[in-house]
Amino acid sequence: MTNYGSTAYLDNAATSPTPPEVIKALEQYYEQQKVNVHRGMYQLSAQVTQQYESVRVQVAHFIKAASEQEIIFTAGATAALNLVAFGYGLSHLQAGDEILVSVLEHHSNLVPWQQLARLTGAKLRFIGINVAGNLDQAQLFSLLNSHTKIVSLTLLSNVLGNYLEIAKIAPRVHAVGAILVVDAAQAVAHLPIAVQQLQADFLAFSGHKMFGPTGVGVLYGRAALLRQMQPTSFGGEMIEQVNYQGATFLPAPQKFEAGTPNIAGVLGLGAAISYLEQIGFAKIKQQEQLLMQQLLTGLLEIGGIQVYGSQRPEDHIGVVSFNLDTIHAHDVATILDTFGVAVRAGHQCAQPLMRTLGVESVVRASLAFTNQKQDIQRLLQAILAVKEILS
Ligand SMILES: Cc1ncc(COP(=O)(O)O)c(C=O)c1O
Repeated sequence: MTNYGSTAYLDNAATSPTPPEVIKALEQYYEQQKVNVHRGMYQLSAQVTQQYESVRVQVAHFIKAASEQEIIFTAGATAALNLVAFGYGLSHLQAGDEILVSVLEHHSNLVPWQQLARLTGAKLRFIGINVAGNLDQAQLFSLLNSHTKIVSLTLLSNVLGNYLEIAKIAPRVHAVGAILVVDAAQAVAHLPIAVQQLQADFLAFSGHKMFGPTGVGVLYGRAALLRQMQPTSFGGEMIEQVNYQGATFLPAPQKFEAGTPNIAGVLGLGAAISYLEQIGFAKIKQQEQLLMQQLLTGLLEIGGIQVYGSQRPEDHIGVVSFNLDTIHAHDVATILDTFGVAVRAGHQCAQPLMRTLGVESVVRASLAFTNQKQDIQRLLQAILAVKEILS
């Protein structure tokens, strides 16, 4: 496991540590198997291609997709969401159409839609939240209409740590003929995901937030929609036939994977999924809830702390954001660092949400089941010290 030395690492929502199983998969590829996939006529290439493709099957099982043909390997959640926006959105939206997102969204699930709206003349509309951070469902339902073409929502907020009841919303989204895109970048390390149960049309996540390597991620897309989606990147590996003037493309998922893929990353992602499945989400949830209980009750016991979103530990999955008195979040995090505690401070890639919360920045502590009680204890003690130093 990544060794953070004496640091209490509480920035797991930014990226999670890497377990030995994943490091071993990367090492094995680079030390013994460094060949390309899909093109070698020799045994080692065939073997690595088979390993690479078996991760696609593994991902399909992991998120309960109907088929591995619905799994596209990308560079991460951001790349996956951009692929939907420009591969699907550009050819399906026109002026007057509407895209719905919530005020909770990470910039990766917002800026691509802003760009798509600009290019097509579509309108971007926002769903608000209540004080606990939950979507204003009444507003969502009132915004849905025959012009709504895409609704894109996070499954788990990277700032407030709350889970969105996507499966309850989905039928209403589909009833107006819109598609539902789910940003599962934060959810994937904490909860089992079942795309068909969620009724997601597309779902995106990154490997590095679920104990896998950086630079690899997944876009799930419903087969019928992938047939209609256009590639946004062109070159080797994705073509069927090429002549001087043009080319035909392979079916999905290959048509969306131009060029040599992140082979090591995909193999590492497979190892990360095996790691998570071996531990099991029931155990992960149990450990995370114990830590969250300790963290949130501890924070609320310290006077002068404003916790954003719900005040109940059971409503937070992995993430708590807060501010301490009127002290700037950057100052808090910088001093916490001197006590060996790593948290994130700033707008958390969610500037519109900061505006909704009426702040410029927050301190975010994010945990994984790999954290220990001592990590939380260190944070709480260090916060008391920050208070003393700055007051
Ligand atoms: C909710 C959410 N969506 C999308 C992303 C983007 O993930 P990546 O930077 O791995 O592409 C993040 C990363 O923090 C996130 O928290």
